[in-house]
Amino acid sequence: MRVVMVCLGNICRSPMAEGILRNTAAQKGLNLKVDSAGTANYHIGESPDPRAIRCMREYDIDISDLRGRQFTSSDFDSFDHILVMDQSNMRNVLALAENEEHRKKVRLMLDYGSSELSEVPDPWYGDIRDFHQTYQLLNDAINSFVDEEFGQ
Ligand code: 4NP
Repeated sequence: MRVVMVCLGNICRSPMAEGILRNTAAQKGLNLKVDSAGTANYHIGESPDPRAIRCMREYDIDISDLRGRQFTSSDFDSFDHILVMDQSNMRNVLALAENEEHRKKVRLMLDYGSSELSEVPDPWYGDIRDFHQTYQLLNDAINSFVDEEFGQ
């Protein structure tokens, strides 16, 4: 199974989500290809935000080697699940979809998990506490995603 996490810049939320799912897949021995992308082209080739790297390190997950890239229409064929962080990402991704098969692959990340929020807030304008809140939201949602898709 192939999963791509999507946010706006691909330097905060989606690389954190990629790191969490990679880590979960490794721990559970799941056969999973995981990637992330941004809908914008602002941070192509860049490392994750230093606050995202620092936050994830506290959970023993290293995302420092990830690099930003932009979501493209070919991702619809390269991935089975496209998990977006907010409604704006959803609109931008769906604008690139070419058919119903593509559209069916796209879900909001927080459709999974127990949060009352429907969108993962952007921590970019916040501080390290916002990044920890992002981690908690993503970790809960990703655990539920793995439960639902793999039954474990
Ligand atoms: P992300 O956060 O979408 O979670 O990676 C952002 C990163 C950068 C910008 C916006 C959001 N930006 O405007 O550069």
